[in-house]
Amino acid sequence: MRNYTIAVIPGDGIGKEVVEGALIPIRAVASKHGARLIETTFDWSCETYLRSGRMMPEDGIETLRGFDAILLGAVGWPKTVPDNISLHGLLLPIRKQFDLYANIRPHRLLPGISGPLVKSNFDILCIRENTEGEYSGAGGRVHVGTPQEVAVETAIFTRHSIERILRYGFEQARRRRGKLASTTKSNAQKFTMVLWDEITEELAAEYSDVEVTRYHIDALSARMITHPESLDVIVASNLFGDILTDIGAAIQGGLGFAASANINPRGGVPSMFEPVHGSAPDIAGSGAANPIATIWSGSMMLEHLGEREAATELVAAVSRVTTDTSLLTPDCGGTAKTLALGQRIADRI
Ligand code: NAI
Ligand code: MG
Repeated sequence: MRNYTIAVIPGDGIGKEVVEGALIPIRAVASKHGARLIETTFDWSCETYLRSGRMMPEDGIETLRGFDAILLGAVGWPKTVPDNISLHGLLLPIRKQFDLYANIRPHRLLPGISGPLVKSNFDILCIRENTEGEYSGAGGRVHVGTPQEVAVETAIFTRHSIERILRYGFEQARRRRGKLASTTKSNAQKFTMVLWDEITEELAAEYSDVEVTRYHIDALSARMITHPESLDVIVASNLFGDILTDIGAAIQGGLGFAASANINPRGGVPSMFEPVHGSAPDIAGSGAANPIATIWSGSMMLEHLGEREAATELVAAVSRVTTDTSLLTPDCGGTAKTLALGQRIADRI
């Protein structure tokens, strides 16, 4: 048996339900392939915040550091805790302290699932820069509340971070269909985005086996809808990747299917795997949450840990179940409950 330590943070709302449902097939596939997941569950959440004044303990990051990976459900309970507190108290510190600079999201339709598009044969891997760019947090407001009020927010792009995220994209393209889409808005933004384009060209010379196309973000957004099958790997800045991956989630059938990984490709720290969706207060507690996004994120976790066969089999098991949408959760038109769907997928392993 190969052992892996997993920090499980279910979080709030449906986060708890999807993690419980997803762990059933994740554990099953791991053990079938000779991997033991040694789980430690942390109750870090908005409830914890209301009790203790903190989303996670002061030494939370140091506690997580020793684990091989983190599996997270969703964090946020806006009725009692403002979203900026829950986000800045848990998710963002984990991403920043472990320098999880690559946010990776696969967008493709599972068998039986029809998204809003006519086309169904797309398979896109979106890689978003996760540490800087438009979300660097540099800026301020002056003359607040007066007619002269000014707000400034500066996007910060460094050669270091652009190069490492693009390099990761080239490496992924090499393992897939050999196509990389690099996206900017360098016609309008002439400093940061031109630097991004220049580094794309420098790396393109080094990765001559990868076919690189540069797109402006507006055109690429349209292309994801009109010609999604023409795209393979996309690399985008923090803001652009944020928006593109919502298009990706929409065309793949909705948030119930959108998986993500926050990775530090250099290793040495735990990477974090989580569904894209939030805590869904509107359906929390009803058992209606779709666990597939979390199961798919679990597959990305297994792959990252080096358990490639288990990762592949887990998505294959999901694919065998999605062909009959009546067996899925209500967001897909079915009547299944979260845990029952997790169990049904585990039964196919
Ligand atoms: P949300 O993703 O929680 O829900 C949006 C809509 O999609 C809701 O109608 C919900 O019922 C549905 N939905 C989401 N996941 C689903 C699933 N697995 N199965 C079936 N239906 C699903 O976004 P919302 O409502 O804007 O945010 C709720 C809370 O979650 C907020 O506190 C927000 O800050 C937080 N949030 C946390 C994230 C994270 O932990 N990474 C990401 C997004 C939001
Ligand atoms: Mg988003």
